[in-house]
Amino acid sequence: MQDRFLRACRREAVDTTPVWFMRQAGRALPEYRAIREQYGFMDICYQPELCAEVTLQPVRRLGVDAAIMFADIMTPLIATGVGVDLVESIGPVVANPIRTMADVSRIRPIEPEVDVPYISKSIHLLKAELGQTPLIGFAGAPFTLAAYLVEGKGSKNFLNTKAMMYGSPNVWHALMERLADLTISYLRVKLAAGVDALQLFDSWVGCLSPHDYATFVQPYTARILKTLREETNIPLIHFGTNTTNLLPLMRNDGGSVLGADWRIPIDEAWQLIGDDKAIQGNLDPAVLLGPWEYVREQAADILRRIDGRPGHIFNLGHGIHPQTPVANLERLVAFIHEQRA
Ligand code: CP3
Repeated sequence: MQDRFLRACRREAVDTTPVWFMRQAGRALPEYRAIREQYGFMDICYQPELCAEVTLQPVRRLGVDAAIMFADIMTPLIATGVGVDLVESIGPVVANPIRTMADVSRIRPIEPEVDVPYISKSIHLLKAELGQTPLIGFAGAPFTLAAYLVEGKGSKNFLNTKAMMYGSPNVWHALMERLADLTISYLRVKLAAGVDALQLFDSWVGCLSPHDYATFVQPYTARILKTLREETNIPLIHFGTNTTNLLPLMRNDGGSVLGADWRIPIDEAWQLIGDDKAIQGNLDPAVLLGPWEYVREQAADILRRIDGRPGHIFNLGHGIHPQTPVANLERLVAFIHEQRA
């Protein structure tokens, strides 16, 4: 069933559980590493043929039920001239971190035709090559983008980010306002070009208390999801990690599918999210570094907890680690598909 991913997002019955993996296009695949030997990360994003090729690699190799269009969460910021480097094994590095109101004004609105002309081309190419397999478009959520912009790179405790929130709330809110606008414009481009679902990645939002999430983040994430919902019926997937305490709030932001990570059993996460939403997750990607028997046991436990209830998309709780054995990924997809939903 080619549309089992979209059906599960809508909580409709499926023949078997759909599966895809965050970061399925990336360094775990030798064919991706071969392309990266020749081309820079952003070259791949800028050239529709290359973007389509790396997006299709995991679909061909692993037999996943959806493709996610290759890019990075920082792509729209790079496209609008905020100086960001994607450094191997480190992640995004911002040359001049955003700390003041003057810095915030450097983040300008996106002009789709000028700034990201390659996005629509890549999507058109991919839709033609994918046939019935759905294509997911994504963006970073404002908090995770802001965290990179303020810290200048990844962080453990996000202290500069929190210091801005608490100490200069006007700067913080101005920054979030601009990032929300940018994200809406960027996702509209993907929507207009024909993606079948959208995912918002708020990878680091789990460092916040529920109070701080509600005060400093939720208005912006909710504005993005609710604005898009007025314009489209496609699934809107809202993902974060470490969100056990935030899911009861996030469920109100407007996503129709919520991501859960492995820090909470998936049936408990679904209770927090509510049965009017679908759920995506939640195998610890580190489990894939273990022996196949352990992977199978843990995957079977997730399916047992779901117990055939419509509305589950199998995924990891976070992205694939580069050192993951490809054989475990291949076997995991086959195993999920062999089990009846
Ligand atoms: O899922 C997919 O297959 C699509 C590709 C994708 C990438 N980044 C490609 C990438 C997606 C969905 C992302 C999102 C992303 N980027 C997130 C949210 C998801 C998550 O994992 O939390 C975040 C936090 C980033 C920021 C970022 N960019 C990091 C932490 C890194 C990794 C650094 C490293 O080298 O380990 C990047 C760079 C990056 N983005 C790579 C890939 C394949 C690896 C670098 C490369 O190929 O040069």
